[in-house]
Amino acid sequence: NVPLVIAMDGPSGSGKSSASKGVARALGLRYLDTGAMYRAMTWWMLQNEVPVQDQAAVAASAGKPVLESGTDPDNPTITVDGADVSAPIRTREVTNAVSAVSAVPEVRARMVALQREIIGTGGIVVEGRDIGTVVMPEAPVKVYLTASEAARAARRAGDLTADPGATVTVTQAEQARRDRLDSTRKASPLTKAPDAHEIDSTELNLGEVIEAVVRLAKETQ
Ligand code: C5P
Repeated sequence: NVPLVIAMDGPSGSGKSSASKGVARALGLRYLDTGAMYRAMTWWMLQNEVPVQDQAAVAASAGKPVLESGTDPDNPTITVDGADVSAPIRTREVTNAVSAVSAVPEVRARMVALQREIIGTGGIVVEGRDIGTVVMPEAPVKVYLTASEAARAARRAGDLTADPGATVTVTQAEQARRDRLDSTRKASPLTKAPDAHEIDSTELNLGEVIEAVVRLAKETQ
């Protein structure tokens, strides 16, 4: 019985976070949100006035912030230099800057090393963009979660109801831009691993997605 690692990749708004947490709860596993790590790194860059479009400047600072990720699916926290940034990493400002920061190889190298350390010997659901391709290509269960662009934009807008600028149309445009940057960057672009199971969640509810992933996990045990 190999300790389980479930890699959950896919574009923004595909329902990865809710599904990953639900799967972790259902199977008694830990949960790691790697997107939160890239967001925390981006938040730190903005706080410290590092010009995020300047790759060399971002690379030079990539080693500075100390990140710590909690792995409880019921309370996934993230701290930077000891401060809980779980809320501020969700602002539009961070969301619209994160793709530039996460495209920098020095940032990715550090994040991947941290992620592998947290994954350790397994027993964890890990969500991101490159988990099944780069971070843990040997993960016994790999899922690529998708949904139509409209369904993804509606979900994202639902997440951001507190932001008056975040109408469905604006969110859809910003999300399309972020997904384009994430899929076309040189370093570990978002792509489906050849052996990943693709699940299209457009017509599925959350419970059905969780059930499909739990079934895949049980098949490998
Ligand atoms: O999943 P989330 O939308 O919070 O991810 C935020 C951003 O972090 C993504 O748009 C992407 O640029 C970056 N990311 C990444 N690799 C991962 C997870 C997230 O590049 N494994």
